[in-house]
Amino acid sequence: MQVIESVYEMQSLAINLRAKDRLIGLVPTMGCLHAGHLSLIEAARKVTDTVVVSIFVNPIQFGPNEDFDAYPRQRARDLELCEEAGVDIVFAPEPEALYPRGFSTYVVEELVSRPLCGISRPNHFRGVLTVVAKLFNIIHPDTAVFGQKDAQQAAVIKKMVNDLHFCIDILVEPTAREPDGLAMSSRNRYLSPTQREDARALYLALQAAKALVDAGVRNVDRVVAEATHTLSSHRRVRVIYVSVVDRCTMESAREIIPGKCLLAVAAWVDEVRLIDNLLL
Ligand code: PAJ
Repeated sequence: MQVIESVYEMQSLAINLRAKDRLIGLVPTMGCLHAGHLSLIEAARKVTDTVVVSIFVNPIQFGPNEDFDAYPRQRARDLELCEEAGVDIVFAPEPEALYPRGFSTYVVEELVSRPLCGISRPNHFRGVLTVVAKLFNIIHPDTAVFGQKDAQQAAVIKKMVNDLHFCIDILVEPTAREPDGLAMSSRNRYLSPTQREDARALYLALQAAKALVDAGVRNVDRVVAEATHTLSSHRRVRVIYVSVVDRCTMESAREIIPGKCLLAVAAWVDEVRLIDNLLL
């Protein structure tokens, strides 16, 4: 496994690989890898010859009062996990390599990125799209793999790829969960044991809502109320949003169409911000 920090070196290697007709798979991450990330790597391995994992905690997707400095970093362990997972190349640049002094070009998507997390994290998707576009231009992947856990992120990236004519297949893999249903996330490490118990509220809320839909309920307000009630019955949980949206456009749904609508939730568990979603 090669570990590359230089943009120039990564770009030259990618151009060489493509000249040899090797299919490149990219799994972008911010490190602190868990089984969710590993499932994306596995999916990339199945459809490409060379798997590149990028590890970069992207400063421009964090708001001024968010957890950029505190974000967990565990480079040695991440490299071990990548090696075990059969990754070919890890691209792990320093922030100055991607954002040299004077950097001033950003990618903004103006529709899919607006609702849900776009409201509570104003410049977040601008930061995500900018770094993902840069990774695409540095690594030249044929396929890039993302997680359904961040459903809006995956939808916004698909929109960018389509709108800007990137020749890249976007794969979206299912959410990996802990045995009790909590979606795996690097941020789960911030949770104390009691907060961890309350964090389960997100999954319970999604399940309660899904049970209503499975029983034939199609009314959005009723389903949102059920999920909100479940979340609010946990002491440490504060709701940021509970929303039924179209799975592709992230627009609010007026009626639930099973298979087409997503229930998306975001909540604070004390000071830890968690998100989750489920296809209804
Ligand atoms: P990060 O949070 O490290 O996630 C990297 C990828 O792993 C994303 O595609 C995310 O959706 C996926 N992922 C996270 N938890 C998952 C889970 N429980 N099951 C399946 N997939 C999961 O998302 C980012 O980093 C960044 O925004 C990034 C795209 C790298 C841009 O900086």
